[in-house]
Amino acid sequence: MEQHCHKPRIFSGIQPTGNLHLGNYLGALTQWIENQYRYDSIFSIVDLHALASQDSHLAVPIVEKVRQTAALLIASGLDPERSALFVQSHISAHAELAWILNCLTPVGWLERMTQYKAKAAQVEAATAGLLDYPVLQAADILLYQTDRVPVGEDQKQHIELTVDLAQRFNRLFGAIFVVPKPLIRPSGARIMGLDDPSVKMSKSLAEKRKGHVIGLADPPDVIRGSILQAVTDSGSETRFEQASPGVKNLLTIFEALSGNPRPAVESRFEGKGYRYLKNEVANLVIAVLTPIRVRYLQLVNDTAYLDRVLGYGADKVRPVAVSTLEEVKRRIGIEAPCSG
Ligand code: TYM
Repeated sequence: MEQHCHKPRIFSGIQPTGNLHLGNYLGALTQWIENQYRYDSIFSIVDLHALASQDSHLAVPIVEKVRQTAALLIASGLDPERSALFVQSHISAHAELAWILNCLTPVGWLERMTQYKAKAAQVEAATAGLLDYPVLQAADILLYQTDRVPVGEDQKQHIELTVDLAQRFNRLFGAIFVVPKPLIRPSGARIMGLDDPSVKMSKSLAEKRKGHVIGLADPPDVIRGSILQAVTDSGSETRFEQASPGVKNLLTIFEALSGNPRPAVESRFEGKGYRYLKNEVANLVIAVLTPIRVRYLQLVNDTAYLDRVLGYGADKVRPVAVSTLEEVKRRIGIEAPCSG
């Protein structure tokens, strides 16, 4: 099996939701982009995971959203020459390894996942796919012998499950999998909804509530409108630890996007009022997202280019996935050992 002995490897995935949001950008994409030259980088648009959210494939076919997502990732700074970007369903090893890992996963581990519990509570009948979502995620990560997984804070528990599965497999069948670690940024790893700072910013709520998310391709006036309407409070506190959740969320967005140290952010807004804070946050978000939007609009209709990038990415990583899967099959005894 191919073991990478040069740069350490990062792998991460994102669901093809079309218009990604500021939470995806800060929690995940900034880390993908910053680390892509330092690590051997592999990123996947996880269309099989998207099937687990029941409403995700109704209005726009998933394949269209995959292209929109690829265009947004590239527009945000992902360099497809350096990082491999591919579509999960193009490499069947993901589904195959997921099945094998399923057979080692106690159902109780999956029923304990907070994301499963939250999502299952929102639907009439949770599917096996929803319960099994983290096992497919573990397969994604383990197929590529991943060292670090750059994600937002909400994915920490899924990475812990991946670690448990890798260790269980290695113990039972001999060391095969690299045991990965999460890569989570200290600030900005959990961006909350603008309309309700008690819940994380999420695509599913965006569809139901106006002003909940900031989409990466939103026009400037929409971004400003959502930020000016963000829930704050009637006070004037601008210190992170003392501020109400809505104000803290705005301060965090500013801190994470500006890269300024926390005390500098606090003193910048001290005594200025929330209207000023909101306008400054809006200015910064618009300044960061406008070039992304411009580039996105240039790319999104270039289907041939996007399909080429995704095809190239899949071709680049397929040998790694296939070789890991073959080794797994040999170890568990469903494929003959290599001769010679
Ligand atoms: P997805 O598409 O739901 O989220 C993609 C990434 O965005 C992060 N994120 C956030 N970060 C900060 N604040 C938020 N409000 C926020 N909302 C989302 C997520 O943490 C994630 O990093 N299950 C994964 C997809 C996946 C994956 C993988 C990730 C499938 N296989 C393998 C890593 C490795 C997910 O949450 O996608």
